[in-house]
Amino acid sequence: RGKRAFIAGIADDNGYGWAIAKSLAAAGAEILVGTWVPALNIFETSLRRGKFDESRVLPDGSLMEIAKVYPLDAVFDSPEDVPEDVKTNKRYAGSSKWTVKEVAESVKQDFGTIDILVHSLANGPEVSKPLLETSRKGYLAAISASSYSFVSLLRHFLPIINPGGATISLTYIASERIIPGYGGGMSSAKAALESDTKVLAFEAGRKHKVRVNTISAGPLGSRAAKAIGFIDMMINYSLENALGKGVICCLYCFRVSNLKMDQTEEVGNTAAFLASPLASAVTGATVYVDNGLNAMGVGV
Ligand code: NAI
Repeated sequence: RGKRAFIAGIADDNGYGWAIAKSLAAAGAEILVGTWVPALNIFETSLRRGKFDESRVLPDGSLMEIAKVYPLDAVFDSPEDVPEDVKTNKRYAGSSKWTVKEVAESVKQDFGTIDILVHSLANGPEVSKPLLETSRKGYLAAISASSYSFVSLLRHFLPIINPGGATISLTYIASERIIPGYGGGMSSAKAALESDTKVLAFEAGRKHKVRVNTISAGPLGSRAAKAIGFIDMMINYSLENALGKGVICCLYCFRVSNLKMDQTEEVGNTAAFLASPLASAVTGATVYVDNGLNAMGVGV
């Protein structure tokens, strides 16, 4: 039988999660999606009304099918963790069973097992603030939504991931190099995610024969990135400007490798590779899919 994938963090057809879903679907996988509760309505409506049909087209001309969309909020592990104001919020009240534990239970009930778990979500409420101006609350929120959310997903899904299965998350070079503008503790959250990739690869590998890898992706004008103004900031920054201000700028990285600026499809394809038996000896790795951005010392 074909493989079954659960992809957490798709709410439109622009982000890395969507690209990964397409590559996995093209390789024959069945696709289940976890969508952030506040974004669920619009995502399902758009899907139903055919708004994504053009971007659902696979290389063989067929349309990607999504077997089921689950509401998910990955900052809550079980119902006891949900505060009253969220419970009664009208964007949440219309959905149920969206904590990590409950979603894993629902997937188990509906499908039994999965083979591939993808974490393509992040959130940092203070991302536009420099780290030096970030509050404790904002920092911890970034870690909770962007790093622990992976630990929690893996923890709750592991019992239903078939041995030989694989998990993939998305990270960013700001974890290891200075990227001004990627603030609010987001750089710290990605560093945690990458470190956890190693420890979890060991634990999940020993315990369940499940591999754990992360893809360090180049910049993409996704909804999340646009919302924080991060991509605009990068695009508007010229090299002269950056040097003039004496800051290290990441912008020119777009041009560095002289390959291309976009790597969305390649992120999807790399995820499909990492999830496949072709990568059966790859675990605990941070795999760069960024046109070489990570290797640059200075922009040219
Ligand atoms: P995106 O907006 O397509 O994906 C982020 C998703 O996370 C959204 O669908 C959002 O609804 C969801 N989300 C936020 N909080 C959530 C929560 N508490 N529970 C469940 N879902 C939640 O944007 P993008 O950029 O494709 O992000 C996907 C991953 O790729 C993220 O981990 C991001 O940090 C990473 N990445 C993005 C880069 C970029 O330049 N866009 C570069 C490198 C990595």
